[in-house]
Amino acid sequence: MLTKLSLACMLAGASVLTNAAPLGLPPVPIPENNPQTPEKIHLGDKLFHDTRFSADGKVSCATCHSQDMAFTDNLPVSKGFNDLTGTRNAPTVINSAYMKTLFWDGREPDLEGQSKQPPVNPVEGGLPNHAPLLEVIRKDSEYVSTFKAVFGVGAGDISMDHVAKAIASFERTVIAGDSPFDSYYFGGEKDAMTPAQIRGLELFVGKGRCVSCHRIEQTQALFTDNRFHNIGIGFKTIQGKEQQTAAAFIKSKREGADVDITVLTRKSMSELGRFAVTENVTEVGAFKTPTLRNIEKTAPYMHDGSLETLKDVVNFYDKGGREKDEDPLSGFLSGGIRPLDLRAREKEDLVEFMKALTSPQLDQFTQR
Ligand code: HEC
Ligand code: HEC
Repeated sequence: MLTKLSLACMLAGASVLTNAAPLGLPPVPIPENNPQTPEKIHLGDKLFHDTRFSADGKVSCATCHSQDMAFTDNLPVSKGFNDLTGTRNAPTVINSAYMKTLFWDGREPDLEGQSKQPPVNPVEGGLPNHAPLLEVIRKDSEYVSTFKAVFGVGAGDISMDHVAKAIASFERTVIAGDSPFDSYYFGGEKDAMTPAQIRGLELFVGKGRCVSCHRIEQTQALFTDNRFHNIGIGFKTIQGKEQQTAAAFIKSKREGADVDITVLTRKSMSELGRFAVTENVTEVGAFKTPTLRNIEKTAPYMHDGSLETLKDVVNFYDKGGREKDEDPLSGFLSGGIRPLDLRAREKEDLVEFMKALTSPQLDQFTQR
């Protein structure tokens, strides 16, 4: 019998199995040990939305990565169980399948590893360990039969690896391109962007130098270089104390502290950025270049959610990430960040350009 569910799976399967991507994006990388299947994707979709994997039974992945908000929560920093807040802004899950590392500091190498963290983070899911989550799954007959069908395992053998694989497979279908920019730039439709947006693109690749980190390639654009830069956000809060903060972090890491928990619960440690992963002092305050796709929908901005609007972002870059030229912060600042001297209209045009990066398919991912 063809159920509504299996029909939805088949329809979804047609495009996801061929990892074909929308205009402006490369093929979706699919790891060999976790091939896409329609049933697995559907299972991942369900797991992504299951609020039972949290201490108060109210928090799922979708709480902080909601389809209605372009897979973010539109909060400066996320709220987990019991409304506890963390230290960082939730990045979108859209197109995270292309990221070479996950999280603002790149501490996880793949989506599979990433998805194991939130349920057991004390300011996110709040579970003491993964056992209660697996317990919920093993007692749910629908889950048990789906895990059997997808992974060939009995209830007792369902592990976090299976859960993570299914969630990652779902995330690899949350892909969005086809924006007005893509039609204009890759599709040759010269009227897909407004004149202001076209001027904004020129500034983005020219005077603004945005493209040096938010990359546009010959045939596709991820708007990230997958690298880490200190652009001057949040760093001021540990400035002058960065050596002590770094030393305290290393000490607690050596004593066995979990990095995921440390950076999301302690504001000063969060500001260490990439340093938390590499322990390289030159990377204190460096964060991953985020994509700019669908950026109009994912306010507020930056790893700490400190900039409210795209206009604020452009003003920030215009000032070169510092208050004055001799600001000592510049010793840590990425070389690419310098005052831009933009005129009022140029700033407006840059903002308009970023609005051309919104995809049409934002509400079409989940089929739960
Ligand atoms: C309480 C809110 C919250 C919950 C629940 C949550 N996330 Fe997140 N998510 C965040 C925040 C905040 C970050 C950034 C953390 C950091 O960089 O240190 C993040 C980062 C991510 C990233 C990395 C994106 C990138 O570009 O690096 C992915 C993918 C992701 N989450 C998926 C998930 C999945 C899957 C779940 C469920 C298993 C989940 N999240 C649950 C708030 C949340
Ligand atoms: C040196 C590399 C670099 C350059 C140049 C650069 N960016 Fe960024 N951009 C980043 C990094 C890194 C972040 C995240 C910083 C953080 O949160 O600490 C970021 C964040 C952003 C964000 C917020 C994204 C989000 O999801 O919160 C926007 C918008 C943005 N940049 C637009 C621009 C524009 C417009 C320009 C040109 C005027 C530009 N960037 C130039 C590296 C760069």
